[in-house]
Amino acid sequence: MLKCSRGWGSSRIGLPRSEEAMDLDPYRAFRSLFASKTVRSAWAKSYGKQFWEASEPSQSQATVDDIKFVTQRLHPSAETKLADLGCGGGCVGRYFACGFGADVEGIDADPLAIRMAEELAVTSGAGHRLRFKTGDVSKTGWRDSSFDGAFSMDVLLFVADKRAALHEIARILKPGSGFVGTSWELRAESAALHAPAFDDYPGAFKDAGFEIEIYEETRNWRRLLTDAISAVVASEDAIRREVEGPAAERLLRWARARPGELDHSRRVRFSVQRPV
Ligand SMILES: C[S@@+](CC[C@H](N)C(=O)[O-])C[C@H]1O[C@@H](n2cnc3c(N)ncnc32)[C@H](O)[C@@H]1O
Repeated sequence: MLKCSRGWGSSRIGLPRSEEAMDLDPYRAFRSLFASKTVRSAWAKSYGKQFWEASEPSQSQATVDDIKFVTQRLHPSAETKLADLGCGGGCVGRYFACGFGADVEGIDADPLAIRMAEELAVTSGAGHRLRFKTGDVSKTGWRDSSFDGAFSMDVLLFVADKRAALHEIARILKPGSGFVGTSWELRAESAALHAPAFDDYPGAFKDAGFEIEIYEETRNWRRLLTDAISAVVASEDAIRREVEGPAAERLLRWARARPGELDHSRRVRFSVQRPV
């Protein structure tokens, strides 16, 4: 298997000193979340054997099982071109590019996440296989039938028009190729996630013309998330020291509000195909 460097700077957040001197730089605040040892250790301890070393907690909630699930179904290789819908900082795409030689294109609505994905692609050594852009998964701008597979980790729950997004994803896939990932069913609107109520993924996949191979709850999601959230809340002081202003506030607000919503939520994984 190929290997990439992790791509985290040795300085606190890997930014030049001139930028560190500036107050409340939104990118610096965003980046400080991913450099926080406390946040990472909250996830590592709570997830235990399910902690995926290459992940970017708290944005990435992917477990080792999730990554195996996606990898086994997409068969990344030097011959495959994959789309990452809602790529965030790009950890899964980097894994496929570095570990398997796949070409990966990622799209995300957050320009700060895209900036981080681009930076880490360069330092990973697989920058030539990775391309990222800011945009909406419902309107990617990518050509028809241009990908051998697509994945999306914990993103669809945020998308306003799921049906439009799934039609778009079907459009960019070659016939016979798969779309794999995870999302959350929300039976009520989530204030913690700023996400609308939606739980009929099977219906939306079928409407978009996908055939469903697997649609099921992810193992132990409730305990893993609850433990990670408790660890975050218990480490509030350290998190405030390591993570800058708005990024720390967002994480702590989420950690306080999310547990009360879990009775209306379920984390799911899916593997669906565009028919031949
Ligand atoms: C929980 S993060 C997951 C990021 C990444 N998939 C991972 O696992 O590390 C959710 C991501 O979805 C992105 N997102 C939400 N709605 C989107 C949309 N309509 N189009 C593109 N990205 C979106 C957010 O900006 C955020 O980066």
